[in-house]
Amino acid sequence: MHNSVITGWGRCLPPAVLTNADLETVTATSDDWITTRTGIKERRISHVEVSDMSAVAARRALAAAGLGATDLDMILMATCSPDRAIPGAGAMVQAKIGAVNAVAMDLNGACSGFLFALATADQMIKTGAMRRILVVGAEKLSFWLDFSNRSTCVLFGDGAGAVIVEASDEDAGVLAFELGSDGTAGDLLCVPASGTEGNPLRDMHPTILMEGPEVFRRAVTAMGDASARVLDQAGLSVEDVDLLIPHQANVRIIDATARRLSLDPGKVFVNIASYGNTSAATIPIALSEAVEEGRIQPGSVLVFAAFGGGFTWAAMVYRWGSRVEPLGVSDAELPPSSASALELLAPNLELHGTGL
Ligand code: ACO
Repeated sequence: MHNSVITGWGRCLPPAVLTNADLETVTATSDDWITTRTGIKERRISHVEVSDMSAVAARRALAAAGLGATDLDMILMATCSPDRAIPGAGAMVQAKIGAVNAVAMDLNGACSGFLFALATADQMIKTGAMRRILVVGAEKLSFWLDFSNRSTCVLFGDGAGAVIVEASDEDAGVLAFELGSDGTAGDLLCVPASGTEGNPLRDMHPTILMEGPEVFRRAVTAMGDASARVLDQAGLSVEDVDLLIPHQANVRIIDATARRLSLDPGKVFVNIASYGNTSAATIPIALSEAVEEGRIQPGSVLVFAAFGGGFTWAAMVYRWGSRVEPLGVSDAELPPSSASALELLAPNLELHGTGL
């Protein structure tokens, strides 16, 4: 049996930046509230769709792995904000990068989606069914925002991250994982009427609803406890962990998760200040930054943990392989845009008004 090892990593963040100061002009909030309650200073707003950001992140990950798109057997696309219901965003990415030999499928696990997809890729490789898989986490959650709802509109942003997972004989890869769901709590974090339950005459633009404090409590418990259980499963203790890469929803959730695990805060990767909550994209974006910043070394023991709508949660222990340098660099870029974040958000603001 082969192990599944991450051999390439990449990300794509659209250029338009929405700052807390920008938000002060469209909803009843303040930089001080957002910074102290969430840790977010700015987030990106995309001028393109999820499959466009994903294709750029994928090309960068393929270059880092030294592979071409035709080398892929499979694309697992984690998103809850696909360009379209049909075709799936994974199939759109396949077409955009030319991965003609890959089967492409979408997976909606909200903020846990990337870890759900990474665990699926691991098992596909361990059973011998696949050898080279592109796993993408990408979102355009700005699409679902209502700026008259200050408790959600300040949290989310857009972006994409991708990894290449390959069959390998290295003593590395996924050591243990746990995936979980509680559909009975679905209404606590949802986009009502965003599917076939919507009435086309009435529900022209559904938006995100969230019971923030309850989600907060459950996220800390689920991420902390699942991380402890997967470490146990892997026969490791918290002292063995080199880096925790958690879902980036709120810096207070991240801090509380690390405290629950008794993990040194210096071993936690946090980039929420720059991007906000990009749902399924947070972990692959953070992972590619962590490798580039030298936070991951050959053989590093990583813990990934996530919690999101559904509810869903996931935790994974992962031993990094021998290579931390990319084999190549891609010149893939998004089409240029000079539109500001507030210009891109004008349709949302027109439909829902502001919170002022
Ligand atoms: N600016 C100013 N004040 C605000 C804002 C804002 N943007 N938002 C809320 N407030 C106010 C509220 O109205 C309330 O005022 P009141 O006391 O006068 O009624 C006060 O701040 C406190 O509100 P809470 O909702 O209790 O604030 P809390 O500290 O819980 O923070 C937050 C809210 C940031 C949403 C937090 O609960 C949270 O991060 N929740 C979890 C998010 C999460 O993990 N999501 C999961 C993944 S998302 C996915 O799957 C797509």
